[in-house]
Amino acid sequence: MSFELNSVVPWGRNFDEYRSMFGLTLSDLSQQIISFGDGPSSFNFEMTKRKRKVISLDPIYQFSKDELKLRISKTKDEILKQTKQNQENFTWTKIKSVYDLERVRMDAMTKFLEDFELGKRQNRYIPHEMPNPTQYPDLSFDLGLSSHFLILYSQLGLDFHLQSISEMLRICKEIRIFPILNLNAVKSEVVDGILAFFQKDFSIGIEYVDYEFQKGGKQMMKISRK
Ligand SMILES: C[S@@+](CC[C@H](N)C(=O)[O-])C[C@H]1O[C@@H](n2cnc3c(N)ncnc32)[C@H](O)[C@@H]1O
Repeated sequence: MSFELNSVVPWGRNFDEYRSMFGLTLSDLSQQIISFGDGPSSFNFEMTKRKRKVISLDPIYQFSKDELKLRISKTKDEILKQTKQNQENFTWTKIKSVYDLERVRMDAMTKFLEDFELGKRQNRYIPHEMPNPTQYPDLSFDLGLSSHFLILYSQLGLDFHLQSISEMLRICKEIRIFPILNLNAVKSEVVDGILAFFQKDFSIGIEYVDYEFQKGGKQMMKISRK
């Protein structure tokens, strides 16, 4: 089935948010990193600016810069409206208000859009839809990340998660997923199934991190080889 841009609500986070969400140390940042469902975040742009390397995967990278720009401008007001209606579900400490949220997200997505065409030519933005296999050999990367896609979108089901995470673990020595809540800001329905499935062959745990925007969303899942 082809991937429809109309079904995506693009929303991008920045480098500082990625660092906090995944507890990334300076040593983590100098590793080979791949980020799944990376969307219009500015993580890749900001890593590249710091002379670090990251490969971003997302199905939206099959579209053009203009198509992505249009989709962002069509959807952002609705996302902000919904956030405003559900303000009590978020913590407004680092991001102070809905107005501030718009500024932070649009800054990240503008940086992404400006970097997108160059990054595509440099093979930093690769179209890829989970749970399909990727093009990379086993253990090509030290670290694989998923911000605000896996686990959050629990409606995709446990099988989708097990297949996607298995592929991440085939090509990465370690993976980190944030958050472990679903879209209703409660513990995601797929967390226990993921823990049960991978604990025999992998080290798997849940860790607190220094990031909380969805209220109660301050834990990431880490899975690595034993
Ligand atoms: C909420 S955004 C998160 C973007 C980015 N990771 C961040 O935190 O700023 C979710 C992303 O998941 C992507 N996505 C949707 N379906 C996907 C799939 N089957 N495989 C990989 N990514 C997918 C969307 O295109 C979108 O960019």
